[in-house]
Amino acid sequence: MSGGGDQTGVLGEEAGADVIAANGVEVPVKLPATAGDEPRGVLERTLAEVFGFAQLRPGQAAVIAEVLDGHPVVSVMPTGAGKSLCYQLPAVILGQRGGVTLVVSPLIALMKDQVDALTARGVPAAALTSAASAEQQRDILDGMRAGLFTLVYVAPERFRSPRFVDALRALGDRLALVAIDEAHCISEWGHDFRPDYRRIGEMVRDLRPPRLAAFTATATPEVRADIAEQLAMQAPRVHVRGFDRPNLFYAVEKVRGIEEKSQRLIQLARTRDGGVALVYAATRKNAEKYADTLTRAGMRVRVYHAGLDDRQREEAQDVFMAGKLDAIVATNAFGMGVDKSDIRVVVHADVPRSPEAYYQECGRGGRDGKATRCVLLFGAGDVRLQEFLIDASYPSAEQLRGLWKLLREQPELGTAGDDKLGARLPGEPHASTVSSALRLLERHGLLRREAEAWEATRPEPGTYPPLDVAALARRAEVERSKLRAMIDYAWSSRCRRQMVLEYFGDEEWSDRGRRCGACDVCDAVAHGGDAELDAATRRGIERLLLLVGSLHGRFGRTRVAALAVDDVEEDRRWDDLPERGCLRGWAQKDVLDLLRGLEGAGLIVASRGEYPTISTTRQGDLAALGKVDVTAIGLGLAMRKPGARGGKGGRGGSGKIRVRKR
Ligand SMILES: Nc1ncnc2c1ncn2[C@@H]1O[C@H](COP(=O)(O)OP(=O)(O)OP(=O)(O)O)[C@@H](O)[C@H]1O
Ligand SMILES: [Mg+2]
Ligand SMILES: [Zn+2]
Repeated sequence: MSGGGDQTGVLGEEAGADVIAANGVEVPVKLPATAGDEPRGVLERTLAEVFGFAQLRPGQAAVIAEVLDGHPVVSVMPTGAGKSLCYQLPAVILGQRGGVTLVVSPLIALMKDQVDALTARGVPAAALTSAASAEQQRDILDGMRAGLFTLVYVAPERFRSPRFVDALRALGDRLALVAIDEAHCISEWGHDFRPDYRRIGEMVRDLRPPRLAAFTATATPEVRADIAEQLAMQAPRVHVRGFDRPNLFYAVEKVRGIEEKSQRLIQLARTRDGGVALVYAATRKNAEKYADTLTRAGMRVRVYHAGLDDRQREEAQDVFMAGKLDAIVATNAFGMGVDKSDIRVVVHADVPRSPEAYYQECGRGGRDGKATRCVLLFGAGDVRLQEFLIDASYPSAEQLRGLWKLLREQPELGTAGDDKLGARLPGEPHASTVSSALRLLERHGLLRREAEAWEATRPEPGTYPPLDVAALARRAEVERSKLRAMIDYAWSSRCRRQMVLEYFGDEEWSDRGRRCGACDVCDAVAHGGDAELDAATRRGIERLLLLVGSLHGRFGRTRVAALAVDDVEEDRRWDDLPERGCLRGWAQKDVLDLLRGLEGAGLIVASRGEYPTISTTRQGDLAALGKVDVTAIGLGLAMRKPGARGGKGGRGGSGKIRVRKR
């Protein structure tokens, strides 16, 4: 496969930017003759002497030249492409003239890694984090003013501290470059929005650094444009390197229930081939559970999640980096920027919440360029967990208002548990939603903790940021649509690589018919599997859609599946329904899967809430009437024929859900 190329076109228009087309071929790229005031010789020497690299990689040279030239840059390169060097090399060169580079980065562990590596190379660098004591922090600030550091790493929270902002201001002209790593965190439309990243925008408007560069591995075109806008970049140069990681093999395996999942997890972790297995879980609890499974299978395992304290996390990361583990089981808290070369298999044991998170996490694998498997273990029911997590993080406006009013009018409820409060709110939200709501209200000065009790308050104007419920609802919708994209991915019969790369706007992969030859779908096609449905199955699907349509959103999936296989006892009310029993002979579980597949293909929608009901979309109604070819919308693999063997085992364990030709 060719190494993707830089893109041009739409992206530039959207971002209002100059788009640079660079050499997309996988050959070493020569440095430009000059960059900024620097002749090529200086760059080459620094690259070799300080970093020990003979050449720049494709894409790096152009970005580095533009950074040094003082053009604001948004650089989108895949995980492991070498984004750090794109600001570290300019930083070192600028440092030779007394310049200081500020690097904003979201994770302490990440900063620590980089600072250690730079220090080892003789580049003075420091990380100003909450892990440092007050005294250490003071020393770093003093050192910064005294010009002791070439690079200073900070988390965006740092901009809350007036002392830090003063120190930054005191740098004056010496502030030579501001680099923002993992810059997608600045965008509400990104998958990992962090409100503190917004402070960077204020900072750059205030300090106007002469060079500004933002880096990310995962940004859709709209997120790229938003990054440039949030950072007030004038005529930004947007560089987008191909996102493809040719040595990663993608597969989705359908699993039923925890038992099957555990078995598969163990098998997959054993294929780590001398390297290490990285397992992602949706929650801390699941991470602990999977770690336990692997430990009991005799592996050396650690967990990594936000529930551990800084010291525990650092320790886990250290043993992991030192190669003392067989597997690490992590939540989304682990990932960004982690650079260990020999992760041989990445398993998503729960469906991730977005394609961005998924690709970013897969991107931890195979940094050494060797073949690496990325397997998503997909249990259709797991989607509910993610839906639940979204609901829990985004209380609705009514719930927020209701909660505030409740505590205002009945102060005695200030000590009631989250459960109890939930029971009195619209929609009876789960305790975790209530807990998010309490925290949100507190953060915006609308609640106060007084002697173990919540007290509703009204903030003094100007003391707290206003609570923007509409923005919150928008965020929730963004999260839901990303989750839907992820579910589509799991159910789809399109080439996995094509699907993900198209999602990220990689033009080389915009052709939906393109196949990569290195994913489970392509593999199955090459081995004679194919997505065609026989006429009877197709008719079954159409009738199932008719059934869903005729029930007008009355029932949930389980009930619909029961009607489809005609397994509803007692209740004879639906006897007359013409499509009742349309899939007689099918296992009810298979019908449930099929319904999920139809949902993934956009033919059915589920209502929100705890007991979702399903109904057909317009597209679904057309398909029911045979006016849309169900095989043409990526549905073929989402099911198997009744009686067909599915499930575990098999060659390479790739997607078991396809319909194979006999
Ligand atoms: N020109 C180069 N020659 C050889 N190795 C390089 C070069 N540039 C970077 N590397 C190495 O590539 C690896 C990945 O780099 P880096 O961590 O900067 O990736 P990244 O693009 O920031 O990825 P992520 O999105 O995961 O943070 C590092 O080990 C780095 O030392
Ligand atoms: Mg990085
Ligand atoms: Zn493929």
